[in-house]
Amino acid sequence: METPMTEPLLDVQTIDAFYGPIQALRGVSLQINPGERIALVGANGAGKTTTLRTISGLLQPTNGSIWFDGKPIRGLKPNQVVQRGIAHLPEGRELFSGLTVEENLRAGFWSQRKKKEANFTAQRDRVMDLFPILRERAKQAAGTLSGGEQQMLGVARALMSNPRLLIVDELSLGLAPKIVAQLFEILREVNEAGCAIMIVEQFVHMALANTDRAYVLAKGAVVLEGRSAEMLADPKLIASYLGEEAAGAAEKPVPTKRPRKTTAKTAAKTRKR
Ligand SMILES: Nc1ncnc2c1ncn2[C@@H]1O[C@H](COP(=O)(O)OP(=O)(O)OP(=O)(O)O)[C@@H](O)[C@H]1O
Ligand SMILES: [Mg+2]
Repeated sequence: METPMTEPLLDVQTIDAFYGPIQALRGVSLQINPGERIALVGANGAGKTTTLRTISGLLQPTNGSIWFDGKPIRGLKPNQVVQRGIAHLPEGRELFSGLTVEENLRAGFWSQRKKKEANFTAQRDRVMDLFPILRERAKQAAGTLSGGEQQMLGVARALMSNPRLLIVDELSLGLAPKIVAQLFEILREVNEAGCAIMIVEQFVHMALANTDRAYVLAKGAVVLEGRSAEMLADPKLIASYLGEEAAGAAEKPVPTKRPRKTTAKTAAKTRKR
């Protein structure tokens, strides 16, 4: 997708964040355009999760501003941020393991202003169409699902709030490559329906293959920003920012079954030769 000339959907400007005396973010700025897919990559401890937490109101930055859909959201509580249209699937999913699949989906629906039963049913059905396995497991406790099914439920629960921006921290965590590819495929469908997506992903090649643009974080600061396809096609660039291991991984085939019709596809083909 070409970068449109419209106002960004999300505009993060020079935020700093601390955990007690430890500064975790240093002047982080990033933008997401409506309908865009963004990756945030970087080494362990670079500040990826912290960046997501400041956006969703779980951690308050000490400096800077955050705008969503033309309005300031810095200082809002997490529930207010969800109501504005940002859904965050945290690292480790944080499902209610003793509750059923359907009850977890209901928990994701609370933010809707018109909490009518008919609206819940309609939204649940839309979300379950994306994950037919969850329909089969509707009455099963979330804690008894497989890891992949739990991650599907995590994404599904986030989508229950009907977000304009979906933020996902480590989609692939602990999952088999085939399941991860399925999940990325679903994110692609969600994005094609108009929802912007921001992912944090430890597997750099997956992150770049499934997004339009990417930001690289190091020691709490943005050190590189660019088109994902261009970064993917440049292992030396990846190695210089993220190490040889990440660059090696970027040479492997892209895990998605159906890569998007972007230049990422062309880049992937070129690399395979
Ligand atoms: N609750 C906390 N208390 C103190 N320091 C923290 C806390 N959470 C994170 N940090 C520190 O903040 C920095 C950024 O952490 P963050 O979790 O954002 O990194 P990350 O890029 O998500 O890493 P990973 O890839 O390991 O998930 C790290 O130095 C980390 O040790
Ligand atoms: Mg993290």
